[in-house]
Amino acid sequence: MQMNGSSSVFATAPNIPADAIFALTAEYVADEFPDKVNLGQGAYRDETGQPWVTTSVARSREIITTQGLLHEYLPILGLPEFRHRAAELALGREIHAARQSQLATCQTLSGTGALHLAGQIIKSCQSSLPKVYIPEPTWSNHHLIFSTLGYQCHEFQYYDPSTRALDFSSYLFMLNSVDPGSIVILHACAHNPTGLDPTPQQWKEIGGIMKRRQLFPLFDAAYLGFNSGDFEQDAFALRYFIHDLEMESAVCLSFAKNMGLYGERVGCLVLATSTAVVARNSQSVLESIQRSEISNPPAFGARVAATILGDNDLRKLWFQDMKTMSSRIQSMRRLLYDYLVKHNTPGNWNHILEQSGMFGFLGLAPEIVVELKDKYHIYMAANSRISIAGLNAGNVEYVARSIATVLTREQNDSHR
Ligand SMILES: Cc1ncc(COP(=O)(O)O)c(C=O)c1O
Repeated sequence: MQMNGSSSVFATAPNIPADAIFALTAEYVADEFPDKVNLGQGAYRDETGQPWVTTSVARSREIITTQGLLHEYLPILGLPEFRHRAAELALGREIHAARQSQLATCQTLSGTGALHLAGQIIKSCQSSLPKVYIPEPTWSNHHLIFSTLGYQCHEFQYYDPSTRALDFSSYLFMLNSVDPGSIVILHACAHNPTGLDPTPQQWKEIGGIMKRRQLFPLFDAAYLGFNSGDFEQDAFALRYFIHDLEMESAVCLSFAKNMGLYGERVGCLVLATSTAVVARNSQSVLESIQRSEISNPPAFGARVAATILGDNDLRKLWFQDMKTMSSRIQSMRRLLYDYLVKHNTPGNWNHILEQSGMFGFLGLAPEIVVELKDKYHIYMAANSRISIAGLNAGNVEYVARSIATVLTREQNDSHR
């Protein structure tokens, strides 16, 4: 092919709009307003608005460095110690010990890579592709990952904007009506973007129907421990499905948020299968897919995580780190609510307190979100999801006051 436009191999490539959240971050970076506020990307920020290297990660890095950093390839499936510890962490020691022979695990390129690999292995094992059911709203990459793999993706209503609560009856309706064998994407905790999770009782109901109707649970577990600061609580649903209900499941783990290892791409896919033979074979398929896609995963972040998970003192320190992050987020959630009320912001803001995790789903109209960005330099996702971690004592009142001003002006305009 010649280097002239018409004969390009890529001539039919469409121009796909940039990912909205990454584009928003670039806009924020380019904004020269000194008091700009970034509530877009879901990455933890400390009280001074800076990224935070957790104490446990800092300590783990020191240990690894003193051991001497070699840059050898990892095995195709990843660092064995990391895979073992990650699965044990997700399931808890007892369940892990009981089910270990039925697990297939593979280190992945963070949570995104785990979701992709889960989609790949199901695709390679099924003669016809099952449909994938994805909550609406959801993390936008779910659709992209599964549709890129060729799956037919369907949405189900997860959130009721009129009550600003989980739409549990729509959820159950979907579970009761879809084809057996369908895959359902379940946010293990800290649903992104709504911050609304089923209660343990609701999880039991969801699991019961899924088991009866032979639906496949695909857990996106990107926020374990980071949501409540309590790993046991955050892992309730996946453990219940795998152990109590004895369901085959896929668990997509990420250490981006809970260890703050965002850019290191540390994740793990854990498949809980029905027998040891199925597990062994599935793991061999994971290995073969991984070889064809990335040969082997990156080493550094997995070493950092494995060192933390394998040392009791470091593990305790990490649990403390998760408490530090989640409690700061919870206190900002409270403060945002208090300031919205103090500034007589039109509307009811109780939902902010009822949500949990890193995100707040404000329920603002798209034009309000644009006005907040253009006039007040406050950046948030178009659906008015805010990363609460972007708030701190220095900006939370400014954010609440700006929302109050814009909504009051809008209310006055509509009464004219
Ligand atoms: C719901 C959800 N799943 C998965 C991920 C994957 O993140 P990563 O690939 O960085 O682990 C994210 C990141 O924002 C997320 O919000």
